[in-house]
Amino acid sequence: MVSAFRKATLDRPPRFHFAKVRFTNGMMKRQFRKKLLAWYRRHRRDLPWRKTKDPYKIWVSEIMLQQTQVQTVLPHYRRFLRRFPNLLSLARSPLSAALSRWTGLGYYARARNLHRSSQILRDRHQGKFPNDLREAMRLPGIGRSTAGAILSMGFQQPHPVLDANAVRVLCRLLGIAQDPQKAPVRRRLWRSAEALLDPQCPGDFNQALMELGATCCLPTHPHCLRCPVSGFCRARRENLQDKLPIQRRRLPLSRPLRLHCLWYHSPGKVLIVQRGLKEKILKGQWGLPEAPHNSPAPQGRLLARVPHQILHYRIELKISQAPRPRPPQGSRWIPLSEVGKYLYSSLWHKAIRAVQTSLNGG
Ligand code: ADE
Repeated sequence: MVSAFRKATLDRPPRFHFAKVRFTNGMMKRQFRKKLLAWYRRHRRDLPWRKTKDPYKIWVSEIMLQQTQVQTVLPHYRRFLRRFPNLLSLARSPLSAALSRWTGLGYYARARNLHRSSQILRDRHQGKFPNDLREAMRLPGIGRSTAGAILSMGFQQPHPVLDANAVRVLCRLLGIAQDPQKAPVRRRLWRSAEALLDPQCPGDFNQALMELGATCCLPTHPHCLRCPVSGFCRARRENLQDKLPIQRRRLPLSRPLRLHCLWYHSPGKVLIVQRGLKEKILKGQWGLPEAPHNSPAPQGRLLARVPHQILHYRIELKISQAPRPRPPQGSRWIPLSEVGKYLYSSLWHKAIRAVQTSLNGG
């Protein structure tokens, strides 16, 4: 998720419109657009959000796509829209219902922001998604790129996008050998995206740029031979396509996190507690109770081990039978048939399945 700071500084739209692209003159720009759009219209993947002009549905898709791959998003997108077919149905539902429908997508702040935004729009915008970039960017969870995507696809407004795919394509196209996370480079990328954007069909153009990054201009081993705009690409001309964009030194991709949770026995029920707000993961959400740290109490039988990834944590969850019959304070028994209403992370769903298999002798 883009931090509020980054949203406020790196991706602020310019007050004045001035477009400057080094590599293009007007004719090249038109040629570039034509080739890219022709390729997109022929080769694009058939995705449900490309068949709608409803800004609400496009918004939902863009939020899901912020941190999740297209193939994972697809079933969730359909399920979410079946449950919340329009903005008002989302706004009038409790947050827990939205979170519950987010199960399996992770990064739950996205669902909270979507839900909060739907209530803001219901209360202050007659339940409509705003058709103004700055208004859209005021909503929680919507940065300049997401706002640009929604307004270009939903309202045909000429605003560029700059998601990770577009950044990669533009860095290669323009031969930008500087870190795209740096503010001046970022500004240059925004100006370029803005100048290249096809004002006649901004929605398709933006989709095409992202599609090129997703299916052709890949992070490693880009398919330059199949690329419709390789003739314009400076990286290709200089054989730098495998070196660009410049990557910042990466933080370690994941770090281990050990969790030890307890399983309290009661047929058809599971005992859950609300997690603290200071936990590293799944803050404030309901989950299985954790074993007290450094407790001298004897450990119950080990029921299951579940590996899982959340954010940058490689989780190793161990679940043991609770040694004491007395449940922890603030805990609740819920029927196993209703876990989806309380437990949103796939971690808990995997854990419960693993425990049940173990208890059934599997
Ligand atoms: N990534 C972000 N937005 C997208 C879109 N509309 N289609 C495909 N991938 C995307």
